[in-house]
Amino acid sequence: MALRRFAAEQPASFAFTADNLVWVDKQIAKYPEGRQASAVIPMLWRAQEQEGWISEPCVRWVAERLGMPFIRVYEIVTFYTMFHMAPVGKVHVQVCGTTPCMLRGAEDLIKVCKSKIAATAKDVTADGMFSWEEVECLGACVNAPMVQIWSDTYEDLTPESLEKLLDAFARGEKPKTGPQIDRHMSAPEGGPLTLTEVKS
Ligand code: FES
Repeated sequence: MALRRFAAEQPASFAFTADNLVWVDKQIAKYPEGRQASAVIPMLWRAQEQEGWISEPCVRWVAERLGMPFIRVYEIVTFYTMFHMAPVGKVHVQVCGTTPCMLRGAEDLIKVCKSKIAATAKDVTADGMFSWEEVECLGACVNAPMVQIWSDTYEDLTPESLEKLLDAFARGEKPKTGPQIDRHMSAPEGGPLTLTEVKS
């Protein structure tokens, strides 16, 4: 695993929005007294949804709110690669590079990211719009190769369909999620192959 540490440039402080603060209080209230630390990952995830990444002041804020040592929260952020420790683009493309996706063309998807976004993973485009990185299996192997952008997955990709996807995001569109070919979810390509007869 690559070395993970805080970005060199950090904001002076961190604060949840008023709505998120209400949400945070509700999460913490789910756990019995003394077990509030159980809310740490949901809180960090909500912070990342709000800010786009996890800063040092954010870790400090979460640790203080949950009564945890700073190092315990820092360990969690550095362990789970889903947490970004530096700013990423508004559209952060996570390309699965694990074996099934690699065998089905992930390397060609990475070439598209290198040419259309940035030569180096995690570099953010000048307009702050795009960044990319290679990640481990995202659990959609049956529709390999695929990418994840925040909470959505885009599957059965080719270099051409990934280029179209990125162009659509650049135009401010919200492209269709899931398989990018004629496939319903993880069903066979082109339609059902079994259980096609209806018997009375
Ligand atoms: S190997 Fe790519 S989603 Fe599992």
